[in-house]
Amino acid sequence: MHSKDSAKKEQLLITLKCFFGFEEVLADELRELGYDNPEILNRAVRISGTWKDVYHLNLYIRCAIAVLVEIESFYIQSEEDLYKRALKVKWTELFDVNKTFAIKGAIFSSIFKNTHYPFLLVKDAIVDQFKAKVDERPNIDVKKPSILFDLYIKDREVTISVNTSGLPLFQRGYRNAVGPAPINEVVAASLIRLSGWDRKQTFVDPFCGSGTLLIEAALLATGIPSNIERQHYAFKNLKNFDAELWQEIFENAPRIVRELPCKIIGGDLSDEMVLKARRNLRGFSFGRFIEVQSCSFEKIKVEAPVFILTNPPYDQRLQADVDTLYEGIGNWLKHDLTESKAWIISASEEGLKSVGLKPSKKYKVFNGDLECGFRSYETYKGSKRNGPEDLEIAEPEE
Ligand SMILES: C[S@@+](CC[C@H](N)C(=O)[O-])C[C@H]1O[C@@H](n2cnc3c(N)ncnc32)[C@H](O)[C@@H]1O
Repeated sequence: MHSKDSAKKEQLLITLKCFFGFEEVLADELRELGYDNPEILNRAVRISGTWKDVYHLNLYIRCAIAVLVEIESFYIQSEEDLYKRALKVKWTELFDVNKTFAIKGAIFSSIFKNTHYPFLLVKDAIVDQFKAKVDERPNIDVKKPSILFDLYIKDREVTISVNTSGLPLFQRGYRNAVGPAPINEVVAASLIRLSGWDRKQTFVDPFCGSGTLLIEAALLATGIPSNIERQHYAFKNLKNFDAELWQEIFENAPRIVRELPCKIIGGDLSDEMVLKARRNLRGFSFGRFIEVQSCSFEKIKVEAPVFILTNPPYDQRLQADVDTLYEGIGNWLKHDLTESKAWIISASEEGLKSVGLKPSKKYKVFNGDLECGFRSYETYKGSKRNGPEDLEIAEPEE
């Protein structure tokens, strides 16, 4: 790698990992942040940049789960080759022996019969090098390592990276109160970007739960970094950590706003969830501008046109109730919210069908391991003569 002094200049290969299907969304976010030619990979996007970019991205990126920096890449012919090449990496220059480490990653190679084995070989190389150089070995901690390495093997090609984020970036540090089915924060940010919300139209989540979508929408609209509340970053445990550079980036990040550039409104039927959403919002300067109403979705007080992005309940065990609920959402959109756009994410295919409106866009996405549909519905007025019963639904765009 490099010394602290060269941290601002050294060009690195930076790979940002994302959830399935959100590669284009992440590339789009990177372009907005000024990275012109992001390379799309499988569940990842690659750019080049400096350590300053690595620090900056860890704080600002909303649609990635980790920021990796490549430390070595090479070709192997055999299992033994992996150990030999891994031994050449200057591990002792990367981190101190008193730090714990772990190795994660993915193996797609017939060289290895057992996909755990390559991890063991790299671990041995690290430990053996430390023993030879400093006569001590660093410990392994798979749950909360100080240093996390990423091993990726595709056929004969090996890439070893350091995961500069450590714990996944959806652990933003702001969600202290959660309900039974919170949406993943990175998924929430990615869906908002995918939805094309213009950051000006009134944003409404009538099933807001702990308020994740409201918070991610507000963070986006205000330009406050999504990870402003996060303390943990694994890059702080690397030997080359430039605390001054990080401090400069962190302190210059926007965090205080005197107003919101748009209205953001939430609602939830459960009083307990409303309290949780309010509690999570309170941690932010924009929290006081976001209203969270305690009511069923159809009673929420909003003035159309609005932009809805929501994650209604989808409990498969109560399918009949889910069907009625989603049918109700469809009717509410049709009759009460003209000239509006609504995006719904749900793991219930049946529920989405029960909405009874033709989606203008459809995506398959994952919220954690859960496969979900993400659909948009547009409502606009029919001829005035026929009144609200004649609301039309836009034709599918794809
Ligand atoms: C899947 S959760 C939403 C989770 C949320 N996105 C989060 O990140 O915490 C669905 C929410 O809908 C609420 N809910 C259920 N029926 C409702 C209704 N008729 N009107 C409004 N909210 C309702 C539940 O209380 C629950 O908090």
